[in-house]
Amino acid sequence: MNRLDNKVCVITGAGSGIGKATAEMFAREGATVVVTDLRAPAAEEVAHGITAAGGRAMALAVDVGEEADLKRMVDTTVSEFGSIDVLYNNALFVNTEFAMRDMDILEFDTEVLYANIRVNVVGSVIATKLAIPHMLKRGNGSVIFTSSGSSLGGDVTAYSYGASKAALNWYVQAFAATFGKKGVRSNAILPGPIQTPSKIAWSTPEMDADFMDVLNSPRLGEPDDIASMAVFLASDESRYVNGVLYRVDGGMSCTVPFISVTRKALGRKD
Ligand SMILES: NC(=O)c1ccc[n+]([C@@H]2O[C@H](COP(=O)([O-])OP(=O)(O)OC[C@H]3O[C@@H](n4cnc5c(N)ncnc54)[C@H](O)[C@@H]3O)[C@@H](O)[C@H]2O)c1
Repeated sequence: MNRLDNKVCVITGAGSGIGKATAEMFAREGATVVVTDLRAPAAEEVAHGITAAGGRAMALAVDVGEEADLKRMVDTTVSEFGSIDVLYNNALFVNTEFAMRDMDILEFDTEVLYANIRVNVVGSVIATKLAIPHMLKRGNGSVIFTSSGSSLGGDVTAYSYGASKAALNWYVQAFAATFGKKGVRSNAILPGPIQTPSKIAWSTPEMDADFMDVLNSPRLGEPDDIASMAVFLASDESRYVNGVLYRVDGGMSCTVPFISVTRKALGRKD
């Protein structure tokens, strides 16, 4: 329960889903958590829940698409708590209307691509650029990114989302290469389907049954499944881990691509 004692951890998009679960788990592991989100009330509610349970947390309203917000996030963390040990870039561009405009590549919409890139890529890169000098001063730090299984292959929809996460993977490895020798590590988590508000909003029970067909796991993922990996990456237990893209996806990507064909031919469900 003390794997993150004395660590100051900043999380973006921490008002919901994976970010919220991670903020709460980091606090239970002894970290001081800076809970940031575009939606101030959501960040405040999570931070309040942590302090009510005896943990240490502060809430900040941060739009990761705004460099000034990210500078305030890093500066406030350092002035309040003296350091920044862990930065978790997790915020997600959420916009149903834009998502509907991202379903046909022959109607490709650059406004949708740029909106996804602004939050999912540029926000993470700028936050990391601003946090790393503080980590370098101490010769120690861990930067974590939430990428996605969608970054690993082609798809028939969400052309801007998948592309943004693929670009993010490149930066994760570039930061790892640039700062690894100086003690600052960068790693990404690539979740499969995780039961968060965003995922629940777009999937149906039929889709969940189909997800179970492609997972090699007895259940769908929960936010704590990702938070557990984030605790490992934030902690000193992962001190020799740098530049890795971790698939935390219930075994979704571990098989040959034609596994469902084989299972069906053999009449097997598992
Ligand atoms: N849930 C899944 O199945 C799944 C799968 C793969 C990857 N992911 C990734 O996990 C991460 C978290 O997603 P989630 O499912 O927990 O989503 P979520 O919708 O539950 O949480 C996303 C949070 O980001 C915040 N946010 C949106 N725009 C922001 C901005 N500009 N600045 C700061 N915060 C902003 C939202 O207010 C929200 O609280 C995302 O990076 C997402 O791509 C999720």
